[in-house]
Order: sequence, then C-alpha cells, then structure tokens
Amino acid sequence: MSRTILLLPGDGIGPEIMGEAEKVLRWVNESFKLDLSFQHGLVGGAALDDSDTPLPDETLELATKADAILLGAVGGPKWDGLPMAKRPEKGLLGLRSKLELFANFRPAILYPQLASASSLKPEVVSGLDIMIIRELTGGIYFGQPRGVRQLESGERQGYNTYAYTETEIRRIGRVAFETAQQRGKKLCSVDKANVLEVTVLWREIMNELKLEYPDVELSHMYVDNAAMQLVRAPKQFDVIVTGNMFGDILSDEAAMLTGSIGMLPSASMNSAKQGMYEPCHGSAPDIAGKGIANPLATILSVAMMLRYSLDEGAAAAAIETAVGKVLDQGLRTADIMSEGCTRVSTREMGEAVLAQL
Ligand code: NAI
Ligand code: MG
Repeated sequence: MSRTILLLPGDGIGPEIMGEAEKVLRWVNESFKLDLSFQHGLVGGAALDDSDTPLPDETLELATKADAILLGAVGGPKWDGLPMAKRPEKGLLGLRSKLELFANFRPAILYPQLASASSLKPEVVSGLDIMIIRELTGGIYFGQPRGVRQLESGERQGYNTYAYTETEIRRIGRVAFETAQQRGKKLCSVDKANVLEVTVLWREIMNELKLEYPDVELSHMYVDNAAMQLVRAPKQFDVIVTGNMFGDILSDEAAMLTGSIGMLPSASMNSAKQGMYEPCHGSAPDIAGKGIANPLATILSVAMMLRYSLDEGAAAAAIETAVGKVLDQGLRTADIMSEGCTRVSTREMGEAVLAQL
C-alpha cells in the first residue's frame, strides 16, 4: 500500500533541516521497503512570497490527501509587519484546524549524552522522559468572538474567548489516557478549575473518562503549580494533558528542561491518525542560511511520523538508535556543543545519522 508524505520546508532554517530529514526518510523508505512517495509544497512565508497567502489551496489539497506531513518551520522578520490574517504562522494554524489535528504530542526526553546542556541539576533531570499532550484546535486560540473593540467610554478593549465543548475535551482525554496506558500509566490533567469554568468541565470529563481506564492513575493540577513542579521535580510526571494555551506554555517549559530546543520533535494528529510532524522550534532567523542549525529535532520528527501515522515502528526505532549513536560519537551542532565534543554543521549531522543507519 503506497502512502504519501508531504514535505513542507517553510522558512528560515526550515529548508536546511528538512534537507537532512528528507535524506533520512528516503533512506529508511528504501531500506525498510516502506513504499512511501513524496510531495513538496509551500507554506508560511515561502508561500506568501509566491502567492500572497500563507496557506495556498494547492498546499491544503496536498495536505488533505497526504498520509503524513513533515514541516520545517515558518515565520521570520521579513513578514513581521503583516496583518494577523496574512502572517506565516496562519499557514500553520490553518493546517492544524483544517485537518483537525487536535492532539499535539510533545515528548521531553533528556538524552544522557546531553545531560550537561540542561540548566537544572543532573539529579533533577537525568532520565527525564515525559509526554505533554496539548489540545491543539480549540480553546482560547480559536474561540469566537475575538478582536479589539471600542468601548462606549472611548477606550479600546482586546478580547478573546475561551471555550471547549464536551466532545473536544473527551477526544483529547481519550488520546491522553490511551497514551498513558502505553507508558507509565500516570496521567496528570492540568487546568485552572479554581478560576475558569471551562476547566471545571474539563476536570469533570477527565474524571468521567478515568472510569473507562482503571489501570491509569489520574491526577489533577492547577497550571500555575504545574509550571512550578516542572522545574522543581519534573520526573514526577509521565503524561500531562492540557488545553491549547496552557499546553503551549508548559511544553516549551518542559522542552527547556532537556537543554535544547534543537532536539525536540512533535506530532499533531487527528482521529484518522493522519499527522503533521515538526520540530518544536521555529525558523531561527538568527542562524538561517549559516548551515549550523541542529537537524535532529526534525529527524526525530520523522521517527515519530513513522511510528504514529505509518505504523512503522522498526524504522522509527532505527532512526532513534542512530541519533543516540551519533551523540555517543560526540558529534554536536552549535546549540548542543560542550567541551570535548566535535562541532559539526547541519549537513554533517545529517550525514552522521545516515552513516549510523
Ligand atoms: P526559534 O525557535 O526560531 O528560535 C529560538 C532560539 O533557538 C534562536 O536563538 C534559534 O537560533 C535557536 N534555535 C531554534 N531552532 C534551532 C535549531 N534547530 N538548531 C539550533 N538552534 C536553534 O524561536 P523564535 O526566535 O521565537 O521565532 C523565530 C520565528 O519562528 C518567528 O517568526 C516565530 O513566529 C517562528 N516560529 C515558528 C514555529 C513553527 O513553525 N512551528 C514555532 C515557533 C516560532
Ligand atoms: Mg509555543
């Protein structure tokens, strides 16, 4: 059965890291006889430059038909002055909402080889392996009405709407419970149920779902406490599930526990297991074009894609093992460089992973 992968390099370092990830993907495709076919499309600033929209119809159509999407990153100072609806980021948000990619998986794993890259003490973070599951297509980032309006008093007011339906909460809840079942069987649901009604309902539904997953231990935590606990004792967590905005913030916080955003992959999936896979970082305009960006987050996103959307666990594991070996060799891009290691470029890092494969 042939499956189609859409590659969307995007902006800034996007094309550089995508180049390396594509080589790895093509290699496993051949070696593991995966029968994947590849397409390329434009999104973000690259699409804006070409056709004045961050998400062209053509890209959306390719994305809808693809089994999985691999995305680099979008955005950059070149497009910063544009109105909200025309910003490169709208391309990404558009893909997430049009494909209903409601479940965002962000693993925060500390590679033992990179322990010194974390700003936390080794005993606090060593062996860290947590999974943050963020609801991605609802909540305050999408709620209506929204805008900036003029009040009768003459002053302007900015406003957004925070809303979740039961259906939205239940479907992300199920994904979280099922993920916990396959991991350490501990799920922490993060909310602000002491202040926000939306999350009172969120908590109620998580408790309801718990009855269907008796083997999973469910706990609840307020988001402000969760932010503290993540830096105090992050290893207390296994799986965290939370809404769009809290998840945005907590997943970036958790990412930093591991020391480098250049190492962290992510997956965003819908009910049909179609997924968009991308590194957690952005387009890094400050280092774009220099050939020094770390391609490993994107390469590890390929592994997530193989496992989550394509059921090719063996190919995924091969990539993850190769990445581990490259780190064992002491090869480091600038962002993860430390004493005694060998500094390599984006391309050299990609080639090193291929060599291990
Ligand atoms: P960023 O993640 O692009 O960069 C933050 C810092 O991390 C920079 O110093 C950058 O050089 C470094 N960095 C990021 N990825 C790296 C890698 N692979 N290797 C080595 N160093 C790396 O975040 P920033 O600066 O806030 O945003 C830059 C642009 O990216 C903005 O236009 C923003 O909107 C966009 N962005 C896009 C995202 C996406 O496409 N998913 C996510 C976050 C930001
Ligand atoms: Mg973020």
